[in-house]
Amino acid sequence: MKTTLSLATLVSLLPAALAANFTLIDTWQGSNFFDGWDFVNNFDNTTNGDVNYISPLVNASANQLAFVNSAGQAIIKVDNVTNVPYPDKRDSIRISTSTYYEAGTVWIFDATHLPYGCSVWPSFWTKGQDWPRQGEIDIVEGINLQEANQMALHTFAGCTAATGTTQTGITGDTNCNSTTGSGCTVGESNTNSFGANFASSGGGVWATQFDASGIFIWFWSRSNVPASITTATDSIDLSSWGTPSAAYPASSCTIGDFFGPQQLVIDITLCGDWAGVPSIYQPTCGGDGSANGCYVNSVINAGSPHYDNAYFEINYVKAFGVNSSVAIRPAGTSPATSGSAGASTPTSTAKGSGTTTSAGSGTTTGGAVALTLENAGIFSVLGAGVLALASGLFL
Ligand SMILES: *[C@@H]1O[C@H](CO)[C@@H](O)[C@H](O)[C@H]1NC(C)=O
Ligand SMILES: *[C@@H]1O[C@H](CO)[C@@H](O)[C@H](O)[C@H]1NC(C)=O
Ligand SMILES: *[C@@H]1O[C@H](CO)[C@@H](O)[C@H](O)[C@H]1NC(C)=O
Ligand SMILES: *[C@@H]1O[C@H](CO)[C@@H](O)[C@H](O)[C@H]1NC(C)=O
Repeated sequence: MKTTLSLATLVSLLPAALAANFTLIDTWQGSNFFDGWDFVNNFDNTTNGDVNYISPLVNASANQLAFVNSAGQAIIKVDNVTNVPYPDKRDSIRISTSTYYEAGTVWIFDATHLPYGCSVWPSFWTKGQDWPRQGEIDIVEGINLQEANQMALHTFAGCTAATGTTQTGITGDTNCNSTTGSGCTVGESNTNSFGANFASSGGGVWATQFDASGIFIWFWSRSNVPASITTATDSIDLSSWGTPSAAYPASSCTIGDFFGPQQLVIDITLCGDWAGVPSIYQPTCGGDGSANGCYVNSVINAGSPHYDNAYFEINYVKAFGVNSSVAIRPAGTSPATSGSAGASTPTSTAKGSGTTTSAGSGTTTGGAVALTLENAGIFSVLGAGVLALASGLFL
């Protein structure tokens, strides 16, 4: 009896990662990649970037910025064809999943190229419906000629990054409060995690565990991606992943208090509240150091060759869960599944699932919105309000 008790105690202390495997719930890959993502159709009014986010459902030219190539990879990019006159903005893409995920989820993001270059600010991240109350997890993010990825959490006041955690990355600011600072950041120590080095090393894979025990992010450059990921089919085993790049244990941030169900977001903005800050932009990218130095030096005039590297090339995004109930889907939508390897565009593949949200609709949600399957049918309306509320995102 004594032995059984102590074993039970031991098991209860094991991280969730060791206790169970996770079941595959969504796969965005191949010709179906854009199914289940909503496109924003508005200028960037959340981070003050110099872009117009466009949607293939509204503007056919978005098909040149979001499509599946002949190798079956999703391309999401900045317009590098148009000669943009002053004071216009340049076209880009921002998409987010209509599905939200509860704690108990693991997301995998596999890419061979990330957007980079002066003024370029891409991110693969997650956020709750009521921002910042329901939190934000920045998994892949960087600006300009940054050499390594930077991870971060953004929350309401009260969540901090524990110090002395077991992680390979470098802790920056430890206060996750987005209203007073720039979030709790962890710099990736592997310099193949962003920019030209990421692409030349064949890209890599991020895994993010969103769990009641904490938020953990792993990164592997292509040659080190574990077999448990490359061979994962209907389930995934985290037990051999080792030390994460970033660890935010619940000991200093009660996950359930600061993170609601999260949706995935992929976007590329230009300049704005981080990449375009004169003291950040000018030292690496030049220009006159004025408030719009980034815009004048990078965004306007010819798009090529300046923006030829401003694109995501994504093999797949997958969501695994402790069970399929962690996925909260709008009524009438079904799990994302892998498509064929052939080329496609969102207009032909997103029928019935892709919608367009306008950040400029002026809708506001007015406080917390309970996320249940019952109210899922009004997601796209609420989504517009969420974007409007998300002023200062990434700050
Ligand atoms: C998890 O998956 C691995 C690999 O398929 C398997 O060996 C292991 O037994 C599984 N663990 C559990 C708890 O199901
Ligand atoms: C835009 O960039 C792509 C690579 O992303 C390149 O293949 C293409 O030639 C560029 N377009 C122009 C007009 O140069
Ligand atoms: C799914 O997992 C969650 C978290 O462990 C649990 O609360 C819930 O009861 C499970 N649902 C089902 C249907 O098993
Ligand atoms: C976004 O832009 C629209 C249109 O100008 C405006 O109505 C809305 O209030 C803006 N939202 C924010 C957060 O600035």
